[in-house]
Amino acid sequence: MAAFLFGLLFFAMQPPPIPSAPTAYSSSTLSPLPPPSDNGTTSMAHPNGTVQQLPDIVIIGVRKGGTRALIEMLSLHSAVAAAENEVHFFDWEIHFQKGLPWYLSQMPYALPGQRTVEKTPAYFTSSKVPRRLHQVNPDVKLLLILRDPTERVLSDYTQVYYNRLLKHKRHQPIEEVLVKDGEVNLGYKALNRSLYYVHMQNWLRYFPLDSIHVVDGDALIRDPFPEVKRVERFLRLPPQINASNFYFNRTKGFYCLRDHGRERCLHDSKGRAHPRVAPDILHKLYRFFHEPNRKFFELVGRTFDWN
Ligand SMILES: *[C@@H]1O[C@H](CO)[C@@H](O)[C@H](O)[C@H]1NC(C)=O
Ligand SMILES: *[C@@H]1O[C@H](CO)[C@@H](O)[C@H](O)[C@H]1NC(C)=O
Ligand SMILES: *[C@@H]1O[C@H](CO)[C@@H](O)[C@H](O)[C@H]1NC(C)=O
Ligand SMILES: *[C@@H]1O[C@H](CO)[C@@H](O)[C@H](O)[C@H]1NC(C)=O
Ligand SMILES: *[C@@H]1O[C@H](CO)[C@@H](O)[C@H](O)[C@H]1NC(C)=O
Repeated sequence: MAAFLFGLLFFAMQPPPIPSAPTAYSSSTLSPLPPPSDNGTTSMAHPNGTVQQLPDIVIIGVRKGGTRALIEMLSLHSAVAAAENEVHFFDWEIHFQKGLPWYLSQMPYALPGQRTVEKTPAYFTSSKVPRRLHQVNPDVKLLLILRDPTERVLSDYTQVYYNRLLKHKRHQPIEEVLVKDGEVNLGYKALNRSLYYVHMQNWLRYFPLDSIHVVDGDALIRDPFPEVKRVERFLRLPPQINASNFYFNRTKGFYCLRDHGRERCLHDSKGRAHPRVAPDILHKLYRFFHEPNRKFFELVGRTFDWN
């Protein structure tokens, strides 16, 4: 019995036989790739020639960093198919428990040769996501778009403020959430989300630094074209996005996109004015982030022009 099992194991460990000479009808350069030997968990082909596939590019964050702008700009490229909604597969248990077939069902219909991208800004700050994503695709290319951490906190507060306003809920004035007993309030979640090095350390336990491209979100808004070209290069996409894909809208005060003659600006909730914050509190925040920022720069081997 044991010998039989061992024999099976041994057989299973044999490398596949290599043909000693190429056969006349199989040419390694011309024959198409063999169909992927999966059972519908990594891709799902449709009769019209499109395919739903697991993303090989994920925009992981950060919340209020400019992820919507980034995915819209990336979608200008014809080799990119982008998921429309934030999927929240790896961070929400209710989704994660549905498994990969559900994740796949959330993916866009990609044309042959297109690469699939999804963005969920909450991934970056969720500690369980890196391990889960690595298990699904260790070779995934990650995009992380960041802004000045203080600006990001204010933007985060502003979004919550408007959401509560819409629901007629009470909101706390910004000074009250940012500072407690004269100190920066570490219990404020939005503040934690801006401690980029804390979260980055967690990602770097699973992914090499060269799988993660950090996009300068402040630069992307000021002048999108050079930042987007860097992303294009990082992803090894054929160069295609060009300066004429962007135009400045004076009324809005920022860039809009031109895609095959179609013009697109971001939703009005993007780029909302921040609340006025007392200068002493603002400076307290700048000072507070100084050390966390330095740690982040050290982790990624690059500095950013933050306050
Ligand atoms: C499909 O295949 C993957 C490995 O390729 C495996 O992990 C998974 O359990 C399989 N799912 C089903 C439903 O057979
Ligand atoms: C292909 O089929 C899917 C599923 O029926 C559909 O949603 C999608 O729009 C189709 N895409 C094209 C390019 O025809
Ligand atoms: C900040 O968030 C990280 C990751 O979720 C967590 O491990 C850490 O305890 C948080 N820090 C504080 C001060 O809340
Ligand atoms: C820029 O790209 C558009 C299509 O996206 C193309 O029509 C146009 O010719 C390109 N312009 C330049 C200068 O390459
Ligand atoms: C510029 O922005 C304004 C204000 O949001 C908008 O009404 C207008 O349609 C935009 N124009 C172009 C050409 O994008």
